Amino acid sequence: MYPIIKPLLFRLDPEKAHYLTLKSLQWLHRYHCGFLLGCKPSFSIMQKNTNSIFPDNNTTTLMGLTLPNPVGLAAGLDKNGEYIDALAMLGFGFIEVGTVTPLPQAGNPKPRLFRLPKQQAIINRMGFNNYGIDTLINNIANSRYRGILGINIGKNAATPIEKAVDDYLICLEKAYPHASYVTVNISSPNTRDLRSLQSAGELDRLLNHLKNRQAQLATQQSRYVPIAIKIAPDLDEEQIEAIAEVALNTQIDGIIATNTTIDKTPLGTHKFTQETGGLSGHPVQTQSNYVLNQLSAHINSQIPLIGVGGITTGADATEKIRLGASAIQLYSGLIFRGPRLVAECIKSCSQLK
Ligand code: FNR
Repeated sequence: MYPIIKPLLFRLDPEKAHYLTLKSLQWLHRYHCGFLLGCKPSFSIMQKNTNSIFPDNNTTTLMGLTLPNPVGLAAGLDKNGEYIDALAMLGFGFIEVGTVTPLPQAGNPKPRLFRLPKQQAIINRMGFNNYGIDTLINNIANSRYRGILGINIGKNAATPIEKAVDDYLICLEKAYPHASYVTVNISSPNTRDLRSLQSAGELDRLLNHLKNRQAQLATQQSRYVPIAIKIAPDLDEEQIEAIAEVALNTQIDGIIATNTTIDKTPLGTHKFTQETGGLSGHPVQTQSNYVLNQLSAHINSQIPLIGVGGITTGADATEKIRLGASAIQLYSGLIFRGPRLVAECIKSCSQLK
């Protein structure tokens, strides 16, 4: 069905099309019509009851969590956790919601989302538009999904970068009881100075604070929730090595590589190259894979890696696994290929084993 409705959706303003698609998905889920998108009718029920009915050969262990398959939804598509049950219907092995901030914020002025269909690419400068962590938690509590759920956390735009750690700690504490894992987003290009937290000194300070609080929460709640960091594709070898060293020293539980790129050179002379924001989809793949590969060499299997950036085919997904990722995530590819990309990636990953 997606190939039929896609031309209509692509005629709409990208942000309107985004919400219309999610609302339609929610409607299909509510009325058990997921089969129209090629989803197995019972998929959402499978997700909320048990993992055991997923084929054993595709289960994956990630940060101590058992995933029914290694194909996840990347952060940013469901920032407020409003569509978790509907998205689970597509068959993801794990879902990441957010980025969420302590307080609600509107994000950047519109237009802030641009599609480049020929390039299978998106440029966005959304700027962490979200309803705040309390609403996200409420939405999670109201969802029926019982699969692996990551909560991706960030800082409010109004919080000075020197106080960023306070925002992350607020979000970590509130997210902790509801998350399978928490992702610390230090790589969005659309929040001023956020990426400076990737420098060795800043990262070490931030991660020490978060790891200390994680240890306290684990004792209090008798449950260990892993923490991953999400890094940018715009890093050179020296920076990647420095991040790997801090990650190993602080015993961070996972690294997600990568977020969107600020490098628009893969777009040539396209009119949108002048648009500020992060580029995702096919053009970010080379840079994302470079970061993943370098990281993998420095991490040497001591920390699990999640590969994201530019996956538009099953072969792209297996390439990330080959480069050292334990699992992968999708975003832009879904917009261009639709739900069948999830099934395609699950299938190609299962064939690797
Ligand atoms: C994103 N991404 C993102 N990442 C994140 O950690 N927090 C966020 O809030 C968002 N928001 C967001 C909005 C939009 C419109 C896009 C396209 C992307 C980044 C996303 O999760 C992913 O890391 C990159 O897009 C690269 O993967 P793809 O899109 O090439 O598969």
